[in-house]
Amino acid sequence: MLSYVTMSSPFIYEDPLEPPAVLAGRTAELALLRDRIAETRNSRLQGPRRYGKTSLLKAALAAADKDGFVPIYVNFLGVLSAADVAERIERAYREQLDGLLKRWFAGVVSTLRPRVKAAPAGIGVEVAPETHVPGLLDRLTLPRRLQERHGRRCAIAFDEFQDVVRVGDALTGTIRSELEQHGKVAAYVFSGSHPGLMHDLFSDRRHAFFAQAKPVDLPRLDAEDLAEYIGSRFESASRDPGEALELLLATADGHPQRAMLLAHHLYENTRPSATATSEEWVMAFSGATHDANPEVQAAWDSWNNSERRLMAVISERTTPLQGRVAHERYGVSKTGSNQNTVERLRRDGHVVADETTRTRWRVVDPLLELWLANGRSWPVPA
Ligand SMILES: Nc1ncnc2c1ncn2[C@@H]1O[C@H](COP(=O)(O)OP(=O)(O)O)[C@@H](O)[C@H]1O
Ligand SMILES: [Mg+2]
Repeated sequence: MLSYVTMSSPFIYEDPLEPPAVLAGRTAELALLRDRIAETRNSRLQGPRRYGKTSLLKAALAAADKDGFVPIYVNFLGVLSAADVAERIERAYREQLDGLLKRWFAGVVSTLRPRVKAAPAGIGVEVAPETHVPGLLDRLTLPRRLQERHGRRCAIAFDEFQDVVRVGDALTGTIRSELEQHGKVAAYVFSGSHPGLMHDLFSDRRHAFFAQAKPVDLPRLDAEDLAEYIGSRFESASRDPGEALELLLATADGHPQRAMLLAHHLYENTRPSATATSEEWVMAFSGATHDANPEVQAAWDSWNNSERRLMAVISERTTPLQGRVAHERYGVSKTGSNQNTVERLRRDGHVVADETTRTRWRVVDPLLELWLANGRSWPVPA
């Protein structure tokens, strides 16, 4: 009985997975990223929120580390200016280098220009924050300096890059022109959680350098990969997901974080040496919807009425967007503006294209989809 109390759930659903933790599936994507890094080529990870982008970035850096690269993970979430970007980069090197390289960094950082240019006293010239770049440039050149001094190459992950894009074109232009000179010195992997902004940056010809970062797509996880991953973790803890596994896989619909959230709750409701049944599944499902609820409410609150209506129709999967049912039951207007609205929802990462539905769109989050399709309330599973 003691193990029931002390053996905590082996499913991580809040923070990204940290190496050496193993990911469910993703072997092809990991191998591709590893190869691209080994050739010092740049990539960009594409996938909706919570599809495991950060987890995969970290796994790819751990692999690159084994291949002799110096791994650097930079998280840009929340940056507002070039100074913030410079600070995040500096912090990443400071926290992630060890031994000899840590001492090298301590030396080199003292020679860098300050991250924020000190305003000359008495001169009231207003300069836009994104043009304060000397300190940033110095930090962007660190891989070149490291290569010169130690002959090592860097594998650099730029995560939550959409927030850098939001600061403005001047900043991404600065970054691009420096990184263009990193040929064999560093491999970059860009990742971001706003599909629209990431697409603009990487597909626009004005941003030629970024266009060379080959896309690595993160699709939904295979049911077989998930079944194996979840099943083996239950087994290691002397539990059996039983018939609940199939229900879990159908509900998660390949969504990585939702699968882990459901698996966590199923685990918590399954006693040691026991096999989960539909009873444990009901408890697990209700625990998971309880956790997901604030996020579902926040998404709903963020939409205007046309967005809400279209999301509701899309969640049905079988109702056409322009038909009578969409109009009468959901109040969807018959104007052409629906396409713009769906496009906005796609750019924000709420829906993705899906050839198998009547609308040709699918709600990214399967729990949000359930809530929408169930008349904006949580279903109680039979
Ligand atoms: N392939 C995977 N195997 C196991 N867990 C995963 C996988 N992908 C994502 N997760 C889980 O889902 C959650 C979201 O993953 P994360 O890497 O933070 O996604 P993103 O960066 O795309 O938002 C994490 O808690 C992580 O443990
Ligand atoms: Mg992330």
